[in-house]
Amino acid sequence: MKVAICPGSFDPMTLGHLNIVRRTAAIFDSVVVLVMVNANKSSPMFTIDERVDMIKRVTARFDNVRVETYDGLLAEYAKRFEHAVIVKGLRAGTDFENEFQMAQINKTITPQLETMFLTSSEKYTFLSSSVVRELAGYGADLTEFVPREIIDEVLAKAQGGAVNG
Ligand code: PNS
Repeated sequence: MKVAICPGSFDPMTLGHLNIVRRTAAIFDSVVVLVMVNANKSSPMFTIDERVDMIKRVTARFDNVRVETYDGLLAEYAKRFEHAVIVKGLRAGTDFENEFQMAQINKTITPQLETMFLTSSEKYTFLSSSVVRELAGYGADLTEFVPREIIDEVLAKAQGGAVNG
């Protein structure tokens, strides 16, 4: 059974993330969307539990996708599977260097662990969770950026509290 792990901080999940999960689910037998902590990003908008709950609702339509969370190293989490591959989306510009570094470090820790990249769809090349958080802070229409199931929640959270960069 070929398992793909789609890791990320998903704060919140965007249509770009969902596009990668959908395409990964069409290739692999099983997909784990893994909500993790990014040590470089402080003051998240949503708690981990809120993010897991939102992604579960958004991905409920995919039979072979499940949502989990793990607060350790990704390379350690992946050891529980005999054959697992990390799948991430690659956007234009700055993603490459960061992603290349993480893939190398993960492979050093768990040598059998491969990382594969799906190029982001053109439409989502410049979309990020931080852009969504900023737009939500202004009460903007998020239809083109965020899965419809969570739009109201993202707007409500942004209006109710501080928006992080
Ligand atoms: O969506 P993001 O914030 O770009 O995802 C980055 C994430 C969460 C996948 C990365 O920070 C991560 O793997 N965190 C878990 C801890 C870990 O394994 N760190 C080592 C990275 S080399």
